[in-house]
Amino acid sequence: MADKAQTHAFCVDSRFDYEPLFFSHPGEEKLPINFLGKKMDYPFWISSMTGGAEISFSINQNFAKLSGKYNLGMGLGSCRSLLNSNERLKDFSVRNLTNGPLYANLGIAQVEEAVLASSENKIHDLINKLEADGLIIHLNPLQEWFQPEGDRFRLTPLETLTRFLDQTTYPVIVKEVGHGLGPKSLAALLKLPLKAIEFGAFGGTNFTLLESMRSEECLVKAPFIKVGHAASEMVDILNALPKGDKEFIISGGIKNVLDGYELVQKLKAPAVIGMAHSFLGPAMESFEALEIYFLNLREAYLMARGLLRVKEQE
Ligand SMILES: Cc1cc2nc3c(=O)[nH]c(=O)nc-3n(C[C@H](O)[C@H](O)[C@H](O)COP(=O)(O)O)c2cc1C
Repeated sequence: MADKAQTHAFCVDSRFDYEPLFFSHPGEEKLPINFLGKKMDYPFWISSMTGGAEISFSINQNFAKLSGKYNLGMGLGSCRSLLNSNERLKDFSVRNLTNGPLYANLGIAQVEEAVLASSENKIHDLINKLEADGLIIHLNPLQEWFQPEGDRFRLTPLETLTRFLDQTTYPVIVKEVGHGLGPKSLAALLKLPLKAIEFGAFGGTNFTLLESMRSEECLVKAPFIKVGHAASEMVDILNALPKGDKEFIISGGIKNVLDGYELVQKLKAPAVIGMAHSFLGPAMESFEALEIYFLNLREAYLMARGLLRVKEQE
């Protein structure tokens, strides 16, 4: 039995100094922050997820209830289907459940289409009908390329974004969906009039991998599955760049509270922790399951704040 309680020195998590002297066990205290011009009670963000027609309604309701009850931010999954029809509007209309930051979501391909057709108004109408605070635009060139029926970009995303932002007054966030963003892309995004950047970093959900499993042709494309940037690398890149007043959602492969806590502490800019896949399982089960999961996360985050200090980098 005692054998089972053994650890090895090389297993130590050397990211943190452990400081138990200044700590008492946490209760239910809030950790208020101002983020995207709104008050949030905890630095947690429910990252954009589409659930498919059958389950989107209940998943979005559960996410929005959690966001409302604990004042968290949330990104809706792709709202593409609402651009030309209101048939599925009820699946995405959750503003009545939350006052937290609520962002609509579209792919860069839909934004490009609007820019080329000068139909940006359709997107502005979408934001209005969802009573969203703004728009998240996802960049997913690899995912689209891996899909035989995927979108192909005619403009560079930088050109699409520049032209779209010229016509836009509400806050816009740009994210990747699982490969992160390299230093030149981050530097270019930092120069645009965006409100925030969401990492969508490498190390968690990987749609390119999923798409690759659907088709044999993808064997040639397979090496691309592993390209990208982990969230920790993106924090290092960003810390060397001028960030102005941009805010950040650190997401992509953040699978436990300590990963998120470390990176939020390290990034020299306002930031929250974003998670997609980890919230999905409990949200598909029930609101109660999702709430229990979140309360465990909250407690672990409060423990981390009380006990751990991120080590200074040499
Ligand atoms: C089921 C599912 C659906 C997703 N749908 C979208 C989407 O519609 N729009 C988007 O920007 N990202 C979407 N994502 C990507 C996530 O927002 C996130 O960037 C990615 O999953 C990495 O985070 P994770 O490792 O915590 O899952 C989806 C992710 C999952 C798991």
